Amino acid sequence: MRVGRLEIGVFNVGGTLHALPNICTHQFGPLCLGHVGGTVLARAETGYRFEWGLDGQIISCPWHGLEFDLTTGRCLAYPRVRLRTYPVRVEGEEIILTA
Ligand code: FES
Repeated sequence: MRVGRLEIGVFNVGGTLHALPNICTHQFGPLCLGHVGGTVLARAETGYRFEWGLDGQIISCPWHGLEFDLTTGRCLAYPRVRLRTYPVRVEGEEIILTA
């Protein structure tokens, strides 16, 4: 959706709406056109065995594949990099964003 000059993507993750800007932090690719799915995890609790996780919560930039968590805006490869997120609420049939 377009809000003024901003393009913002709204995603339903497990029944909760999350909004992110349609711009990747890497080279400004159209992030919201990317694939939504999960990612490969390797955690200490599982002995760093690869496993699929966070399904439906991760968006991959269509340009170079950088992954972002839709619920936090956090970049998985560079955790200090975080996209702005926008609070979203639904009123009737309208989606309300707060910038
Ligand atoms: S522009 Fe998004 S990963 Fe490069």
